[in-house]
Amino acid sequence: MVTQLPLDGAPLVKNGPTGVTIRLARNDEAETLCQIERSAAQAFRLIEAFSWLSVGDVQSAETHRRLTAAGTNWVAADGSGRPLGFLSAEVADEDLHICEISVSHLHQGFGLGRKLIEHAIENAAARGLEAVTLTTFRTIPWNCPFYERLGFRILEDGEFSPRLTDLMDREDADGLSRDTRCAMRLDVNA
Ligand SMILES: CC(C)(COP(=O)(O)OP(=O)(O)OC[C@H]1O[C@@H](n2cnc3c(N)ncnc32)[C@H](O)[C@@H]1OP(=O)(O)O)[C@@H](O)C(=O)NCCC(=O)NCCS
Repeated sequence: MVTQLPLDGAPLVKNGPTGVTIRLARNDEAETLCQIERSAAQAFRLIEAFSWLSVGDVQSAETHRRLTAAGTNWVAADGSGRPLGFLSAEVADEDLHICEISVSHLHQGFGLGRKLIEHAIENAAARGLEAVTLTTFRTIPWNCPFYERLGFRILEDGEFSPRLTDLMDREDADGLSRDTRCAMRLDVNA
């Protein structure tokens, strides 16, 4: 039995999934990945101010299939090939932009998210891109602070590309208040 980390980050139970590998998602897994994102969002119930996110919209199956076709939609699969988490990204300008990353609730805190992001960084480097970018919540422990530990830095307002400015504006209009959000960047091939 595995369980979610408490807010201090200490795992309650230590046995995570074994034989985890990162591979490209398959088209027939799109609906499963939507379910994984719904499961992952249960983590937000730990924080009252963000608990509404636990029942929010998820990335569509159609978007999963589009990013799978582009070769930028990866899953963390267990030893029997079952997806437990995913990272969806797209190439935008000279960046690989992470659109969404989710690990099913019961499998969080066992390093799958870290593996997925490291894979995305390696892929961006192999494509000769300049950076990996994302937008996220500033204060949620498994968002901005986690990405900072992986080498991402918060972009100041003056550093935003037009693409990231547009994205932050759209998120704000969709109810993800800019006050709570940040854009982050990790340079690759530096
Ligand atoms: C973000 C997410 C994908 C990370 O996946 P994961 O498999 O749990 O990632 P890891 O186990 O590699 O690491 C999670 C990190 O967050 C920290 N963390 C996780 N839950 C935590 C909690 N409740 N309190 C404090 N820290 C926590 C862990 O300590 C770990 O940090 P470390 O590796 O530097 O020690 C996963 O937590 C998730 O799906 N969350 C819900 C959806 C979400 O927030 N998506 C990202 C939107 S930008």
